[in-house]
Amino acid sequence: MATADDIFDQSFNNLERLGLRAIPFTASPTNQSSETLQQVFTGREKDLRQVFNQFTSRERRRILVSGRIGIGKSAFLLEVLGVLDRKLPDLLTTYISLPNELDLATTALIAVAKALPNDDWAQQQLYRMGIPTSKVLKARSAEVSGSMGIGGKLGEQDLPITAPEYPAISLDTLLERAREKYPRGVVIAIDDLDKQNPSRVRQLMHDAQGTLKGQAWYLLTGHPLGMTADMLTSERGLFDLQLPLEELDPPTTYQMLINYLNSVRINNDCADPADPRAVLPFTPETARRLCEESRGKPRLFNRLGNAVLAKAADLRAKTITPDVLELGLQASARTRIQEAALGFQEERLRQMLQERGSLSDEDITLDELRQLGFSSFSEVMPLLEKLENFDLAYQLPQEDATTFEALVLPPLEDEASEA
Ligand SMILES: Nc1ncnc2c1ncn2[C@@H]1O[C@H](COP(=O)(O)OP(=O)(O)O)[C@@H](O)[C@H]1O
Ligand SMILES: [Mg+2]
Repeated sequence: MATADDIFDQSFNNLERLGLRAIPFTASPTNQSSETLQQVFTGREKDLRQVFNQFTSRERRRILVSGRIGIGKSAFLLEVLGVLDRKLPDLLTTYISLPNELDLATTALIAVAKALPNDDWAQQQLYRMGIPTSKVLKARSAEVSGSMGIGGKLGEQDLPITAPEYPAISLDTLLERAREKYPRGVVIAIDDLDKQNPSRVRQLMHDAQGTLKGQAWYLLTGHPLGMTADMLTSERGLFDLQLPLEELDPPTTYQMLINYLNSVRINNDCADPADPRAVLPFTPETARRLCEESRGKPRLFNRLGNAVLAKAADLRAKTITPDVLELGLQASARTRIQEAALGFQEERLRQMLQERGSLSDEDITLDELRQLGFSSFSEVMPLLEKLENFDLAYQLPQEDATTFEALVLPPLEDEASEA
């Protein structure tokens, strides 16, 4: 009988057999240290250049990074902040995940106050809001601690936050104080506006115009749906730079795979895409297939990579052959379906999408909509978006029609046996 210690050793041996110290793929960049992110972050050169160009000016700017979920907005933001930290020590960078109930000014106030642990006035502001301040949160990844937002690390996330009466004024005062130590100013990165519903985002932006035009640099992330037409026109001038992030192209995705593997590979740091050793334990063929399947979407890429390596370790493989890859991809599809915990209609919709390959407002019939229990395509949209959030579908980037494509690899074993 194997003891728990034996089993633990076996898990690591199985990874070592693949030549790896760990599985490098993570669903969220906030699980990574900034050094790891720096190691694996790939591409986006044009976008980085545009952002850094803004920082050559002393005038503070407002930048909106937009893109669909999983495209790499958070990673981009964190990478930008990491570079700014290294290059501009007289600039203070702060990062916060937008909490559910708060306005942008209060959110910004919290982000800056947390970044000034030695400023008594700042700590007092946090204290008044009911945010624990006894411990200084060190790592940026700990500061944000996923969707919990504030204070999650200290286990007191249930404490209600009392927003100050005039957060914009407190924020101004705080920014003044920060200037003493950081003459170049303060960058406030507010992430996860993409997780909020579009109407709330619009309201937040509208209410925060004064704040956004204030003394700090702002970096915000949003979902294109929350940012459409009326907001970008009525709030015109709110952003100095709008940066829509898109899918990575195949060579960049391939390089990204090399970077991730290099961050954990034992005894081999070949990074030359022309050299097959660069993608070990993948073969160039299975490496290319993984990149294709991930469609240049970093989160899907991470999910698939994770599942494939876990499966390969499980099978005690030394190399990721096409068979191993296939089993890994299927395991990932099953996990994604389980995680989505689809309701009846959602599951019907997923299967329909799977059978047809794609669904759009132009090719779905009224009958088909009725069969699904709907009367219009707009009612189906939230369900399709949920499927997209779990990487079970994805929306094609086109202006004239709304089209979602299926993202599960047929045939799943259990579905095949049912049929
Ligand atoms: N350019 C990139 N290079 C390497 N990894 C990336 C890149 N962009 C995103 N990732 C990784 O992909 C995953 C999903 O990206 P994320 O930034 O969370 O997407 P979003 O914020 O748009 O939902 C994260 O693990 C992230 O670290
Ligand atoms: Mg994000």
